[in-house]
Amino acid sequence: MPQINLKVNGKEEQRTVPDNTLLVDFLRETLGLTGTHVGCDTSQCGACVVHVDGVSVKSCTMLAAQADGCDVTTIEGIGTSDNLHPMQEAFHEHHGLQCGFCTPGMVMSAIEFVSKNKNPSEAEIRDALEGNICRCTGYHNIVKAVQSAAQKMGG
Ligand code: FES
Ligand code: FES
Repeated sequence: MPQINLKVNGKEEQRTVPDNTLLVDFLRETLGLTGTHVGCDTSQCGACVVHVDGVSVKSCTMLAAQADGCDVTTIEGIGTSDNLHPMQEAFHEHHGLQCGFCTPGMVMSAIEFVSKNKNPSEAEIRDALEGNICRCTGYHNIVKAVQSAAQKMGG
């Protein structure tokens, strides 16, 4: 079993994990970071998106061992309930969530997207979030939330 060293939400973690442990299971079960969700077994829903070295990754498609040496950020690492990240705030303000199951992955994908495109069009947002499935909202308010957060975050 490999020993892995990685940083998760700014905290150094050193663990021994079975070779076949998925990153999402490592985060949820070993570290107790259950904000990252599992919504499918086909790598399609995007509920499990986290940032690995600043890039959005579906954590159900990556082994924990592959994150050795990396900097991982989960939804728990971007804001607190008292001090929401601007993207979380925008989802709240624009009613971009209903059940909230897809929200962690949506927010993580949207943050990376907005960091590269400060003034996205509706079409660009829809395209960027293609890998994130929402079963509740119809996407309209999610798109509005991302557009608003992009402006707040420096667009
Ligand atoms: S759980 Fe990873 S894409 Fe659905
Ligand atoms: S808010 Fe329920 S799945 Fe998106």
